[in-house]
Amino acid sequence: TQRTLVLLKPDAVRRRLIGEIIGRIEAKAGWAVTALEMRELDQETLELHYGEHKGKPFYEPLVEFMSSGPVVALVVEGERVIEGLRRLAGPTDPIAAEPGSIRGDFGTIVRENLIHASDSEESAIRELKIFFPGLS
Ligand code: GTP
Ligand code: MG
Repeated sequence: TQRTLVLLKPDAVRRRLIGEIIGRIEAKAGWAVTALEMRELDQETLELHYGEHKGKPFYEPLVEFMSSGPVVALVVEGERVIEGLRRLAGPTDPIAAEPGSIRGDFGTIVRENLIHASDSEESAIRELKIFFPGLS
């Protein structure tokens, strides 16, 4: 069984979608939210989390957006949850995302795409350490 890091981005919080999104995650058989925290992200945390995108044209606006309000950070555990959550979220660009996915149902803007989910086992381990350092 796997563990992944999910962030409900500031747009999801502002639009009152956190219950809806967590509900979709919990509805999946065998998946469970095992840690959860609402918090504002500082520059250092964002630089660690999105370091791979530093220097790209969308990096500065991305970091500004991600610090524009609180996010909800969650640990989700379950069978193939890393791949599963990426599919539940849908592709990065919400317009390209199928209806039925979170981004496909609620998003239109690439930057304001509601949710982050770790993209691999390595990313999950790295990102969980950033957001939930106390986790064993
Ligand atoms: P995350 O789960 O947030 O990491 O999204 P992702 O894995 O689907 O996308 P990626 O890691 O490639 O990019 C991180 C975030 O940067 C995306 O979620 C978008 O919010 C933003 N982003 C990525 N590509 C673009 C782009 O081409 N234009 C803009 N404006 N934003 C982008
Ligand atoms: Mg990513």
